[in-house]
Amino acid sequence: ECINEKKRQKKKNYKNSGIVSVKHCEIVVECTFLDYIMGGCQLNFTVGIDFTGSNGDPRSPDSLHYLSPDGVNEYLTAIWTVGMVVQDYDTDKMFPVFGFGAQIPPSYQVSHEFPINFNPSNPFCNGIQGIVDAYRACLPQVRLYGPTNFSPIINHVARFAAAATQQQTASQYFILLIITDGVITDLDQTRTAIVNASKLPMSIIIVGVGGADFDAMEFLDGDNGVLRSSSGEPAVRDIVQFVPFRKFQISPKEALAQCVLAEVPQQVVNYFSTYKLLPPKNSAAK
Ligand SMILES: *[C@@H]1O[C@H](CO)[C@@H](O)[C@H](O)[C@H]1NC(C)=O
Ligand SMILES: *[C@@H]1O[C@H](CO)[C@@H](O)[C@H](O)[C@H]1NC(C)=O
Repeated sequence: ECINEKKRQKKKNYKNSGIVSVKHCEIVVECTFLDYIMGGCQLNFTVGIDFTGSNGDPRSPDSLHYLSPDGVNEYLTAIWTVGMVVQDYDTDKMFPVFGFGAQIPPSYQVSHEFPINFNPSNPFCNGIQGIVDAYRACLPQVRLYGPTNFSPIINHVARFAAAATQQQTASQYFILLIITDGVITDLDQTRTAIVNASKLPMSIIIVGVGGADFDAMEFLDGDNGVLRSSSGEPAVRDIVQFVPFRKFQISPKEALAQCVLAEVPQQVVNYFSTYKLLPPKNSAAK
């Protein structure tokens, strides 16, 4: 009932000035990133490593894949720094890791998505240390080659993310970390693959190592405007975060991880709230 106090005081028979009736009411629960994680959402963290020739021969000290006497390089540092943060959100800590752009044994054909442990039925590495060990073991067995194609590995993860959309709750989200020297060959297919993946529970983090020109990576990041597929279809949301590793060489490790992961929580919330999916164990809706 809408009551006009002045009228009520003046008129004797005044009841109301109208009635508002609610026909439909919906309570929308706004979950935070932590609500999803604590509510049972699993982050699937996949790593893609660039094994193309432009990185330089791993036996030569100027190669980006060269392991220094203490066993590190920019690839490993990037894996450690980002992985250490992400693994806290990944319950089983088993990470699928794929390489691209190398000739691989036994036939030395070029592959754009090979498990770095060479086990296609079980591409998982046990924890961040498992990734580091598999990487070190893989390096002497492959021949760095080319071209630098991102789209196969993006589409690979997208297939799993597409399967996850069958679920009725916010139970799985996929993060693909690509570490690369940035000299991409299949830019058009990659744009299309990203626009495709923007409809899925998936984010892509690209860490650029070395001193190459990263204009193409900045372009894929889409922060300066909406990324479009080669046919002009716009991405439905921004899912790519690009970070040049060198910018953080003299800063503390946490600064790189913080910058790399800055956009992911928002991207997770944005995806699940757009599709109105709640965490499997929905504590926030109590
Ligand atoms: C995570 O995604 C990868 C593909 O990137 C897939 O191989 C793996 O099976 C997925 N893990 C789970 C638990 O869904
Ligand atoms: C888009 O993603 C779906 C699901 O993974 C895949 O089947 C399809 O080939 C992709 N399309 C393009 C153009 O990459």
